[in-house]
Amino acid sequence: GKGEYDHYMLKEIYNQPTSLANTIEGRVDDGEVVLEDLSTGTFSEVEYVQFVACGTSYHAAMYGTQQLREAGIRTEVVRASEYDSTAGPVCERTLTVAVTQSGETADTLEALRSADEQGARTLAVTNVVGSTAARTADDALYIRAGPEVGVAATKTFSSQAVTLTLLGQRLAADVPSATPREDQADLLEDLERLPGQVETLLESTDAKRLAAAYVDSPSYFFIGNDLGHPVSLEGALKFKEITYEHAEGFASGELKHGPLALVTDETPIFATCTGANDEKTKTNAIEAQSRGAPIVAVGPEENPLTDVADAQLEIPETHPVWAGLLATVQLQLVSYHAANQLGRPIDKPRNLAKSVTVE
Ligand code: F6R
Repeated sequence: GKGEYDHYMLKEIYNQPTSLANTIEGRVDDGEVVLEDLSTGTFSEVEYVQFVACGTSYHAAMYGTQQLREAGIRTEVVRASEYDSTAGPVCERTLTVAVTQSGETADTLEALRSADEQGARTLAVTNVVGSTAARTADDALYIRAGPEVGVAATKTFSSQAVTLTLLGQRLAADVPSATPREDQADLLEDLERLPGQVETLLESTDAKRLAAAYVDSPSYFFIGNDLGHPVSLEGALKFKEITYEHAEGFASGELKHGPLALVTDETPIFATCTGANDEKTKTNAIEAQSRGAPIVAVGPEENPLTDVADAQLEIPETHPVWAGLLATVQLQLVSYHAANQLGRPIDKPRNLAKSVTVE
């Protein structure tokens, strides 16, 4: 049951120190990544990695793909519902990774089957053991977040992003043309601190007060660069799903290519700073602020927006790769508290289902 929590969503947000610890358990050993059956060399034939996913899982895939790009591995993230019209060609040297919490999303399964028919090697990254995706793909990698009841995905997003980042390290080590990251040891060390840092954040968050401060706004924007981009898309998706208010996520640099026309003193902008490539977030947030928009900086205590932001949601100091996940937890809490203040049915938003089994 929900226990001491008013909603499953809140329980699942607060479960993240545990769910993340389960995701990581046994997967980092002496500075190396260990992914059960996917042992060293598993992917030595792979030349190109394609992710297929929907909704929140798509954002997690965007998050994970960054490791591959940095390692110099060719990669793309495809919206599963648009697979046949947008995916690049695949062959036996392609790894198609289906990212799906439930393992039952029809669009994702369809894309997975299509890649399989064209000869790609396939992998399911899922939360559900024995799900259709796990049984359909050549291999399965479990995110081990535990059951998620709330329709809005929360703890499964963070566990997906961690699992995919670890998969990225395995691929960077296996793919012959790839360059593993020089700071892998630091990255993995900081990963082991992540569950505790989420706990600290949950104990000290100011998200409820901030949600109350802006709850009457007609529209909410979420911006970020680099890993702050999927964080912002996810922040906006969560917000619209459970508050029923208008919210949009953008790559910071896109703001001036159209969305700025909507910016007024009534459009709060949540700007995520991870500590890497935050410059465009700074300049574009300031641009919006000069049009009157209140800026909420989501980032470490000292970030490029600290001195100018109207408010700040602070995250503990860590590697930029994990900072994005800490920022996501703050944004999950903002959505939750805003929806709660608006009296929305948080665990079962109108028109939505936990698992979408139609195309
Ligand atoms: C958002 C949400 C959906 C799912 C999407 C894919 O909170 O839950 O966007 O992420 O329907 O579901 P899975 O991951 O089960 O394939």
